[in-house]
Amino acid sequence: MTQKDLVPNTIAFVKEKLENAEGGHDWFHIERVYKNALLIANDVDCDLVVVKLGALLHDIADSKFTGGDETIGPKIARLFLESQEVPEPTIEHVVNIINNISFKGGNFKKDFSSKELDVVQDADRLDALGAIGIARAFNYGGFKNRAMYDPAIDPNMNMSKEEYKKSTAPTLNHFYEKLLLLKDTMNTASGTAIAAERHRYMEGFLAQFYAEWEGEL
Ligand code: ADP
Ligand code: NI
Repeated sequence: MTQKDLVPNTIAFVKEKLENAEGGHDWFHIERVYKNALLIANDVDCDLVVVKLGALLHDIADSKFTGGDETIGPKIARLFLESQEVPEPTIEHVVNIINNISFKGGNFKKDFSSKELDVVQDADRLDALGAIGIARAFNYGGFKNRAMYDPAIDPNMNMSKEEYKKSTAPTLNHFYEKLLLLKDTMNTASGTAIAAERHRYMEGFLAQFYAEWEGEL
């Protein structure tokens, strides 16, 4: 294997693995994260090979769809990178990115940090924002057979985390639980700037959504 083949080989591997993935987590999500990661990396002094591999492999096996097992993704990534004879420090770094990228919060304890993780994490978060972020949220809600919105369930989320987890909260709640909080969690300057734009777009969407719900427009 030559260095030149590594990224194309990884792309082919990820495409094949994600063939039957749900729409919000499919190859096109990976492609958008990859492109955004390269864009953000322009302004950051970092190892581009690690950024590329991290972006491409970050969702190789989402625990939501593997019965909650969070160790499968990093294992698959490691085996693949070993098969490509990638140097161990690079493998280690990419696996650390996969293990630490999630923005789920909760019990999750961050035990690794790097510029490359910052870049890939920002790129992944950006894909949960803006028009694409809205589409992904409703796609996920549809996949879970959730209501879009229910005025009886407070969209501003006055429920406890536990209550929320047990509920089948409508998709609109996800905006208040997670999506509208993301802009304040960005790591990089360019990621922060893009997130601010996408945040404004989502606020506009929500205002329009409520207005249409009430029959105002
Ligand atoms: P990641 O895979 O990037 O760690 P998640 O798996 O939490 O992040 O979310 C992936 C996508 O699915 C995001 O666009 C997110 O908004 C959407 N999503 C996750 N949970 C929900 C939910 N409860 N309702 C609607 N969309 C959701
Ligand atoms: Ni992702």
